[in-house]
Amino acid sequence: MCGIFAYLNYLTPKSRQEVLDLLVTGLKRLEYRGYDSTGVAIDSLDNKDIIMVKRTGKVKVLEDAIQEHFSGDDYSEPVLNHVGIAHTRWATHGVPCERNSHPQRSDDGNSFVVVHNGIITNYNDVKTFLAKKGYEFESDTDTEVFAKLVHHLWKKHPNYSFRELVEQAIQQVEGAFAIAVKSKHFPGECVASRRSSPLLVAIKTRTRLAGDHIPILYGKDADSVLPRSDSTAEFMPLEEKEVEYFFASDASAVIEHTNRVIYLEDDDVAAVRDGTLSIHRLKKSLDDPHAREITTLKMEIQQIMKGNYDYFMQKEIFEQPESVVNTMRGRVRFDGTTIVLGGIKDYIPEIKRCRRLMLIGCGTSYHSAVATRQLLEELTELPVMVELASDFLDRNTPIFRDDVCFFISQSGETADTLMALRYCKQRGALIVGITNTVGSSICRESHCGVHINAGPEIGVASTKAYTSQFISLVMFALVMSEDRLSLQQRRLEILQALSKLADQIREVLKLDSKVQELAKDLYQHKSLLIMGRGYNFATCLEGALKVKELTYMHSEGIMAGELKHGPLALVDDSMPVLMIVLRDPVYVKCMNALQQVTSRKGCPVIICEEGDEETKAFSSRHLEIPRTVDCLQGILTVIPMQLLSYHIAVLRGCDVDCPRNLAKSVTVE
Ligand code: G6P
Repeated sequence: MCGIFAYLNYLTPKSRQEVLDLLVTGLKRLEYRGYDSTGVAIDSLDNKDIIMVKRTGKVKVLEDAIQEHFSGDDYSEPVLNHVGIAHTRWATHGVPCERNSHPQRSDDGNSFVVVHNGIITNYNDVKTFLAKKGYEFESDTDTEVFAKLVHHLWKKHPNYSFRELVEQAIQQVEGAFAIAVKSKHFPGECVASRRSSPLLVAIKTRTRLAGDHIPILYGKDADSVLPRSDSTAEFMPLEEKEVEYFFASDASAVIEHTNRVIYLEDDDVAAVRDGTLSIHRLKKSLDDPHAREITTLKMEIQQIMKGNYDYFMQKEIFEQPESVVNTMRGRVRFDGTTIVLGGIKDYIPEIKRCRRLMLIGCGTSYHSAVATRQLLEELTELPVMVELASDFLDRNTPIFRDDVCFFISQSGETADTLMALRYCKQRGALIVGITNTVGSSICRESHCGVHINAGPEIGVASTKAYTSQFISLVMFALVMSEDRLSLQQRRLEILQALSKLADQIREVLKLDSKVQELAKDLYQHKSLLIMGRGYNFATCLEGALKVKELTYMHSEGIMAGELKHGPLALVDDSMPVLMIVLRDPVYVKCMNALQQVTSRKGCPVIICEEGDEETKAFSSRHLEIPRTVDCLQGILTVIPMQLLSYHIAVLRGCDVDCPRNLAKSVTVE
């Protein structure tokens, strides 16, 4: 999904060339979110105009265009105060092309330029209004409407500050957005705001800031139609005047510069003027805090770099022995049977009294719910519903005060999941967030939750977040069954298996070259069917999703029990089939399915347990994985699927980290 990156230096000399380098690097860090075009805006050499460069395609194309556009010594002259804004666009309104790329501008003279994530839903109404005022539109975007609206307000209220103009404009627009605005009439200033789309401000000073928060300033007459906010409010003074600010869609774009960030909330307007940041809100509600905390990020730059791997996805697959341990770190005591989930500990008695558990997510996150449902039912003895967030919302699903709803999301920003969360919260359910992104919207809006601590996941296709979500839900099931005597043996078995998991994942990863050979057999085919049941059905769904998104090949995860009800018709000697057949309670049924496939001349690839000669005898192609407890098999069986999709994608020449048409963080419905 789109990415915003803006950089402001104040009393910190930076040449335009350096600013452009910073902007391009910022965009590179956001590439993983998915995008189809890019753009930057900086001040012209005489400071009287704004220069924009935009390109369709990758950041590298933009980088080359920038090099061509800005050459000469003048661009290496340092300037004391400057604002540059940059963007990666994922097309929603209008095809990917330079005209539709951001920044979008207010007029021929580039008075105001805007970068925007999300969708302005009433853009047609605003466009009609502005067209009547004589504005002509040059793009198909909703963003251009915003730039022109700010311009219109500026003409109408020439004495308004930059921040006030943006404040007025955001009140006229509906939808989900994050924006950063730059203006030639307000040089050295930047104004940014968000509603349902993530945005943070990062601060870099030579010494520490005066405090660990920025107070929020409220408008006086917030409720009038086009209110003027309190222009007399004082800016928060900083001890140190030399300062740099970064506005970004997520922390991975700023971490190499500073670890001090403020996560903006919906309708916050953050403005920097004379090097001083202020955060404004027009309306004050009772539970509003007085300040926005400055958070210290714990992530490190190495965590988001590719290292020796060719792709982020590959790196993330191979990180799983460590990431699963990080998920359990400080929570699971392997020497005893206790598990402490600090983020939900106080809510466990309430959860135990609930009517049912609902697990809600999208894509891979949804699959982690499918993977753990059976164990949750077994260990909590509660009804467990597993829901795709989009479908859940379509159905207006009944929700009650005694429901406990889990929202599973790597990014913590997925629009459908967030909408479903708000829907359940309004109806009084207890909201539990399972996310990988500290400070994300889902984190902040949940009553309690578990951070999966998988570390930053950059590849669009989720891998290590899945296994960590899986383990987080298993740990929750173990917590819920702590005082159930009859379940102690089962709990012990799972705990022992968890302690061996990292080493077993290492074993599975050794299959890499074998999987690569297999990929060579499969990559030219049109389709791949992946079959399994019980604890491994989720692996089939997740494996098929990985194959689809990375390789653009058709793939389907098939519940082996449904084989006779349709999918068997697809099987012949040429259809590629992969079957998961492990020695668990559904082994006999899986063998049955395997026989049905082989007797139709199918030649499946089999994922089976190490040394299972009987199963292996059914095919010449197999991948053997170590034995673990049934409910954790899904973690070991999904890894060959991740590797297989990765290798097929490489062989087919696909963009592994940024598959076409997809985005890492889907912040629109
Ligand atoms: C997108 C990504 C998927 C991800 C899904 C849910 O579609 O491409 O990899 O599983 O969103 O994202 P979330 O951040 O909520 O887990």
